[in-house]
Amino acid sequence: MSDAIQDFSTRAIHFGYDPQANQGALAPPLHMTSTFLFETAEAGGEMFAGERAGHFYTRISNPTNDLLEQRIASLEGAEAGLALASGMGAISSTLWTLLSPGDELIVDKTLYGCTFSFMQHGLQKFGIKITPIDLTEATNLESVISDRCKVVYFETPANPNMRLVDIAAVSAIAKRHAATVVVDNTYATPYLTRPIAFGADIVLHSATKYLGGHGDLVAGLVVGRADMVQEIRLFGMKDMTGAVISPFNAMLVLRGIKTLALRMERHCQSALHVAQALEAHHSVEKVYFPGLESFEQHDLARRQMSDFGGMIAFELSGGLDAGRTMMNRLNMIGRAVSLGDAETLIQHPASMTHSTYTPEERAEHGISDGLIRLSVGLEGLGDILADLENALPPRHAVAVE
Ligand SMILES: Cc1ncc(COP(=O)(O)O)c(C=O)c1O
Repeated sequence: MSDAIQDFSTRAIHFGYDPQANQGALAPPLHMTSTFLFETAEAGGEMFAGERAGHFYTRISNPTNDLLEQRIASLEGAEAGLALASGMGAISSTLWTLLSPGDELIVDKTLYGCTFSFMQHGLQKFGIKITPIDLTEATNLESVISDRCKVVYFETPANPNMRLVDIAAVSAIAKRHAATVVVDNTYATPYLTRPIAFGADIVLHSATKYLGGHGDLVAGLVVGRADMVQEIRLFGMKDMTGAVISPFNAMLVLRGIKTLALRMERHCQSALHVAQALEAHHSVEKVYFPGLESFEQHDLARRQMSDFGGMIAFELSGGLDAGRTMMNRLNMIGRAVSLGDAETLIQHPASMTHSTYTPEERAEHGISDGLIRLSVGLEGLGDILADLENALPPRHAVAVE
């Protein structure tokens, strides 16, 4: 199959794989091996010296992982890709590669809890300055960035409160200061947003989420310029973190990606209906979903995303207690962290995914204690809506004395 094929879904299914070179196997073979035999001692030495192409140890590369890397690079419009053991493996391997003691990392205020913890409690300990700012206003970057800043890092939409960052505007400012722009594209996936086309340098994923898509694996991906990705492979992953993906999990991510477009269409369609229903409900105080007219950054969402995704955040009028009661009344919708699966999942960031922040940090970073995060799955829309409706407080709830 020619690699010149343009359609996203076609590339998600065919890119980089030639069945005829693999005994006609429709599904790419799983190379479940840790090491590879050298034809001769000299050939082995040449591979270690980088003078001869080929795989020699799976902590560095593997044919199954390689196919996944080519495919995600194609879908993100990047030169090269790298598959890793987890999203955190992708983030830590990348940042250990790009940063040195004395450097500054400017980040958006809202980050996934463990990303925040890795930076605040990890990188900072090794002499890297972390500066969280409100990147939803790109001009804020201009006022704080200096040549000390080596990386600008953000999620869009951000986990959990759905804030968007204008990738093009932020990247233009970062570029003027020679800072590398790293975007966590887990929520949007390349089906909805391709940050490199907007000027980002490196794109990361927790492939555990939409790319895997079935809640049966943990994986991470990085894409970007070939020389940068190679450095992240040979230093960040190989030496610093060892966050190597099992070829088995790479095979599962490849399988998940084949249906990414279809699944995302359904996630987006259902999430819009669910967000509208929540917004119309008397007990819901606020809904954060980029597809709603009421969403503060709706215009940016229209410019930067081809659809609005499957993630929703919302707050009930009764705050955290009302949220917990509602979550406990759900039948089909699962109380669980993670997202992007076929199953609709709900969780409470302040006590779960974002409990790595102190209460003060959460308040400062825009993550209220009453916020609830919903990952709208692929079940029938009617069943998702009915489960939520049953769990939310009824309109005429009568106080019993
Ligand atoms: C936006 C985002 N980035 C990164 C991660 C970390 O990914 P993983 O759990 O695969 O290590 C997560 C996990 O929830 C996430 O939501």
